[in-house]
Amino acid sequence: MNRWKLLWRLMPLLAVLALAGCGDPSISAIDPQGPVASEQFFLMKLSLAVMIFVFAVVMIIYIYVLVRYRKKKGQDQIPKQVEGNHVLEIIWTVIPILLLIVIAVPTIKYTFEHSKDLREEEGVVHIKVTAHQFWWQFEYPDNNINTAQDMYIPVGKRVALELTSSDVKHSFWVPALAGKIDTNPGMSNIMHLQADKPGIYRGKCAELCGASHSLMDFKVVAVSEAEYNQWVEGKKTPAKVTADTAKGEQVFKDNCLSCHAVGGEGAGLGPNLNGFANRTEVAGVLPHDAASVKKWIQDPQAQKPGTKMPKVNLNEDQVDQLVKYLETLK
Ligand code: CUA
Repeated sequence: MNRWKLLWRLMPLLAVLALAGCGDPSISAIDPQGPVASEQFFLMKLSLAVMIFVFAVVMIIYIYVLVRYRKKKGQDQIPKQVEGNHVLEIIWTVIPILLLIVIAVPTIKYTFEHSKDLREEEGVVHIKVTAHQFWWQFEYPDNNINTAQDMYIPVGKRVALELTSSDVKHSFWVPALAGKIDTNPGMSNIMHLQADKPGIYRGKCAELCGASHSLMDFKVVAVSEAEYNQWVEGKKTPAKVTADTAKGEQVFKDNCLSCHAVGGEGAGLGPNLNGFANRTEVAGVLPHDAASVKKWIQDPQAQKPGTKMPKVNLNEDQVDQLVKYLETLK
């Protein structure tokens, strides 16, 4: 095989390494940003180390035997035939058992630890996550907050998540903070996570759930405890309507309110839009600016195929007023 052909055959492997997103701390499972992700990364390294060890030992013995016992010049007779060797059989049974124990003990320990229900524990932030086609709802029962797409958490504190789905099966995944967990309609799954440093950690839906599965992104926004408390307080004060935004508010009431709430309670069919102006992206897929909001309102299907948000019949001026109003929902 010539060199180029070999390189071509290695391409898929190189592509996997390139696509693994190594190094981007906002979405990398191999650059953990919290204790849960770190413990899970430890399990990955441990299993990989054991596998590399087994591979190396097998290859060394294999190559040794291949070289040592190959047919020599002038050797015509059949070598001595060996059938069964108790010592060897015991060795290659016991070593794998020991290796499995080495992997199993910490894996079982962390599996139970990471699925512990911390909702009732002191100092833990409790968030209810509901997956929808194709967005994420976040409720903070202790603070009466109902929001979407950006999940605010305080740095250095454990966050207990209770996850479910309103329609099909989705999977909640923030690679930098914790492994994924399914969200199933009609039942709740439990997990917890923690961020050690402030930052925006990207989350993904990790279960094929429809046409816009790959666009079902969200963010975990980790902020200092003071900023978090400020955010919680801010959610209690409704956005101020000025003469400038009154027209937009009316457009909203006439066309959007049947699906989108803006206050603390009630999600309706679509995401609750409180704090909308502070969200990092529009619908999780467009950069947050007035042009994107407009683009989204005018044709949601073009941005997120299969979304339940309908195209609303509004003229150019109404859309502009509506965008102006939405940008006051801080
Ligand atoms: Cu939700 Cu994929």
